Amino acid sequence: LSNGLAQTPPMGWSSWNGFGPNINETLLRDTIDTIASNGLMEAGFVYVNLDDGWQHYLGNRLDHPLEADPVKFPSGIKALADYAHSKGLKLGIYSGPGQTTCAGYTGSQGHEAEDAKLFASWGIDHLKYDSCCAYQFAPKSVVQQVILSMSQALLASGRPIVYHACHCGWADSWEWAAQYGANQWRIGQDISDDFDYPGNRMKYFFDVLDLLDRGNSLAQFSGPGHWNDYDMLIIGLNGKSQHVGAGCSNVEYRTHFSMWAMVCSPLLIGSDVRALSSDSMETLTNPEIIAISQDLLGQAAATVGVGNQDGGTLQVYAKAMEDGSYAVALLNRGGVTADMSISPQRDLTVAWDKYTVRDVWKHETTGPYDTPYMVEVIGHEAKILRLYEVVPNATMPLP
Ligand code: GLA
Repeated sequence: LSNGLAQTPPMGWSSWNGFGPNINETLLRDTIDTIASNGLMEAGFVYVNLDDGWQHYLGNRLDHPLEADPVKFPSGIKALADYAHSKGLKLGIYSGPGQTTCAGYTGSQGHEAEDAKLFASWGIDHLKYDSCCAYQFAPKSVVQQVILSMSQALLASGRPIVYHACHCGWADSWEWAAQYGANQWRIGQDISDDFDYPGNRMKYFFDVLDLLDRGNSLAQFSGPGHWNDYDMLIIGLNGKSQHVGAGCSNVEYRTHFSMWAMVCSPLLIGSDVRALSSDSMETLTNPEIIAISQDLLGQAAATVGVGNQDGGTLQVYAKAMEDGSYAVALLNRGGVTADMSISPQRDLTVAWDKYTVRDVWKHETTGPYDTPYMVEVIGHEAKILRLYEVVPNATMPLP
């Protein structure tokens, strides 16, 4: 079951992390205007997604119709989608398979075909269909059924709509969601604006607990059209998220963005784009990081070689790229500066004699090298490198 969409990880913005249910037409139009004019659209961010809270009614679907809140969205959702499209952007929306959504608004239960048609008639391009709360304790087969049912409804609607089956890491959905037509699925509970994502085991991303538990197994389920979703981005929230967390340093936000790109997670900005600092803009629009995310091979990074040293404090990830190069992350999860290294011969399955190294945050290429590349990585930093073979008797490939 496949809609053929999302051949690379979806990029855009989503309202939840920064605004929760406090969204409205003015915010959305301002967000569309900003993304279309400040460089984010050019960088690849095209989806503008309404999360929970656009609906009119709190309470069961049995008791209420699904419609847009007429106070928050007086012109309606179709007008908003038309506006997004007029600027070259796309509009996403949110619902769920329960009587209510996570925030208590009317869900789609029993009305899947009707709602899919409604979204299609509005010109919707992306649907986050959230079973996190209503189906948290449901057996896997029931979750699969409700995800499939909306999947079929979207296909029948005739409009290409990217399908996010959000199940918050429950029921190992990464193992099967693609077969049920999902383009993306969450691998954990809601993110927080903190480098350690505190609070709950299912919030640990790139932590030793996650490595021990799931390790590299997640990467195999990801590929063109179907992606592990590490949750919406926290860059620029600066402690103002809907969830816990006092904010991150610029280095930590860069590490977060880099790792999301390495593992091919969707890249949905979660902060107020009207108030992004120049540091945040520089992070979000680094073309070399985005090239890693959007590479057509679509291979999610996994730990390699000397990865997972020191009980997971120092991790080495690699991602094969379509042009034969590798993207590498030397991730220092700990707080202490460390020397880290990568060697194509030792850590990747290649027999390169010589190679060059592009540091994609420094925007600098060095080499050629024929020994391991060694670099100092400060606490909470990820060095993101592109490794290129130097082909004998050829001109040195430049990135
Ligand atoms: C769940 C999801 C969040 C968000 C909220 C909305 O918690 O995981 O991403 O969509 O619901 O209520």
